[in-house]
Amino acid sequence: MRKVLFLVLAALLATTSLQAQPAVPEFAPLPYAFDALEPYIDTQTMEIHYSRHHRAYYDNMLKAASGSAFLERGLQEALTEIASWPEALRNNAGGHFNHDLFWRVMAPRAGGEPQGKLAEKINTAFESFEKFKEEFKKAALGRFGSGWAWLCVDTDGGLFITSTANQDNPLMNVGNRKGIPILGLDVWEHAYYLKYQNQRGGYIDAFWNVVNWPEVTLRLERALAAN
Ligand SMILES: [Fe+2]
Repeated sequence: MRKVLFLVLAALLATTSLQAQPAVPEFAPLPYAFDALEPYIDTQTMEIHYSRHHRAYYDNMLKAASGSAFLERGLQEALTEIASWPEALRNNAGGHFNHDLFWRVMAPRAGGEPQGKLAEKINTAFESFEKFKEEFKKAALGRFGSGWAWLCVDTDGGLFITSTANQDNPLMNVGNRKGIPILGLDVWEHAYYLKYQNQRGGYIDAFWNVVNWPEVTLRLERALAAN
């Protein structure tokens, strides 16, 4: 009996000490195969984008964060204070966070229209799903050069659309309109050039076929709970 109690205690202590360690974000596997989003996002783009571009942001984030307390309170929290950290962390931690979100808000055999609370909030903020898509496309097309288009949750629980340059995102305290991003679209040329060349609009239109609305809804619920 004593031996069992000792083992239980040891297991509990091990769990506690693991939890107390600083959270180093993982380079999570892509949640589907490279060719899973065809024909909307081509296999070669997915492979290069995930394995090379995202991987480089991740590796460079760890390098830039090494020896600092940057990741200790978690990546999302760290991004809210990014203005106090070196430029390399803004670019690479932003790059890692943004791509990790991007992979997860897409899925094969997805698309369609959002349901439930997300649909209600979209209708409240933008009048209709069609108008939301128009406004999102305008933000994604209007981003000059490289960046992202976002659907975000405001501090009052409402939704808004914004876009950011480079690897910035709306969590960062760098002059963007701040909010919690629940859907993001990468509009860097590396995200679409092989298939769409300079036709960013075609890439944006195709994106709606792969949006994983149940995942966006989960992110909405988490954001509302955090507000
Ligand atoms: Fe990208």
